[in-house]
Amino acid sequence: MRNNENLSTTIRRYYRVQSKIYDLTRPFFLSGRRKILEETIGLTPIQKILEVGCGTGANFHNTLKKYPESKVLGLDLSEDMLSKALKKVKKFKNRVDLVQGMFPECLNDKNKFDMILFSYSLSMMGLEVDSAIKAAQRRLENGGLIAVVDFCETSFKTVKCWLGLNGVTIDGTIEKSLSKYFAPVMVKKEIVFMGLWKHIRFVGRKV
Ligand SMILES: C[S@@+](CC[C@H](N)C(=O)[O-])C[C@H]1O[C@@H](n2cnc3c(N)ncnc32)[C@H](O)[C@@H]1O
Repeated sequence: MRNNENLSTTIRRYYRVQSKIYDLTRPFFLSGRRKILEETIGLTPIQKILEVGCGTGANFHNTLKKYPESKVLGLDLSEDMLSKALKKVKKFKNRVDLVQGMFPECLNDKNKFDMILFSYSLSMMGLEVDSAIKAAQRRLENGGLIAVVDFCETSFKTVKCWLGLNGVTIDGTIEKSLSKYFAPVMVKKEIVFMGLWKHIRFVGRKV
């Protein structure tokens, strides 16, 4: 619990400033966010979607467009990121709800979803990655999908350090835990950002 509190405080403090420049700066290096949504199309009927760590809501437009019958719950622990998301939500006419809190504690097990999206949020969860992925499995309907895009590997120490300074851990845990709790439907690793790192896109099914 103590670890979680520290992590939550650190992330919220980090995004107090970063939220102001987030939407301008991140498109350059958070690649694969559009692709991961495309890669989930047609796999299962999807109406209820949870995005864990939705941040400023950068994925809402694409998610709602790809899934015209869906409703999205966006969850994030940073009030500053959510205040940016709130501005976007207004134009989506009741299709997006927002919740402020730390995943998984802030959602009860009765809330089940057809798809849970983690877009560059798992890499910020430090030691809690495995338990977050396990919790996502509990919160999915049978046959439901987990969709993840995130940092995956780098061979450069300086890149690892720089990501670390920004709260990001890049150590292979995400991939290991995803394969532990989900049946993989699609796994792709792509070298991106001038070859400095790889991202992973993973779609898995709850069986
Ligand atoms: C890099 S941003 C990604 C935002 C958005 N998903 C995107 O693709 O642009 C990571 C977000 O995850 C949130 N986050 C990290 N750990 C979290 C947790 N355990 N529960 C809820 N939100 C979390 C952070 O506050 C931050 O807004």
